[in-house]
Amino acid sequence: MLSTEQLARYHADGYLVIPAFKDAAAIAALRQRALAIVDAFNPAEGSAIFTTQNQAAASDDWFLGSDTTVRCFFEEAAFAADGSLKQAKALSINKIGHAMHDLDPVFEQFSRDPRLAAIAADIGLADARVWQSQYIFKQPGIGGEVRWHQDATFFDTTPVSVTTFWFALEAASVDNGCLWVEPGGHRGPLRERFVRDGQRVFMEPLDAMAWPDNSVAIPLAAQAGDLVLFHGLLPHYSAPNTSPVSRHAYTLHATAGTSSYSKGNWIQRGAGLPVRGFA
Ligand code: FE2
Repeated sequence: MLSTEQLARYHADGYLVIPAFKDAAAIAALRQRALAIVDAFNPAEGSAIFTTQNQAAASDDWFLGSDTTVRCFFEEAAFAADGSLKQAKALSINKIGHAMHDLDPVFEQFSRDPRLAAIAADIGLADARVWQSQYIFKQPGIGGEVRWHQDATFFDTTPVSVTTFWFALEAASVDNGCLWVEPGGHRGPLRERFVRDGQRVFMEPLDAMAWPDNSVAIPLAAQAGDLVLFHGLLPHYSAPNTSPVSRHAYTLHATAGTSSYSKGNWIQRGAGLPVRGFA
């Protein structure tokens, strides 16, 4: 699936952009389904706000229970001082997570793509296990910042294996909050680990290495349909979306089945909903 040159670039930079991976029909189906999920969402069920600014404090039962369900999370800036939504519900959701790839037929079809299995094999992700799906809205005007982090923080395995499959569902640019990465930064250490202990979660510092200076980051502009593949240790962030244009994306996180998956990771799967691969 990947050329020798693409593989070399992935291993050197820690990421790879694969243009036009998904076609317009697949993207339209996923977007339509996401909007239907939001439409059916009753905010009275759960009012969790998703933020990476202080994720441990923001995490609650609504978040922790989304490991094996499909739930909507509000943007931090979605609410007025009186607690009402500033704009329509469909323009107030930060993301949907985290088990659509296993529970929703439309998401499942998008996610169980034999080409993804081939890519995983190409990059050495043996016996891939897909733990999480997220539909990220990056809403116009209020799409929040996601600070520098490494995705291996949330999917600790020995050895490190988590790989991110990031699908652009709309054009992403510097203006509407695209990804920024530190090329080659995946050779650095894992700085922190997000640990779950029952219904409690906390961030455990692992390495004092500073986050990169923003001046070394490069923006990953993408077109709808592009797939961005990146290594779990690659430092990345995205800026707030202050533009009038949304930046929808869909992500999958997969680890190697041959690695040891930490019991402290916040997503665990049992016999009721076993973790599966891309096939
Ligand atoms: Fe990330």
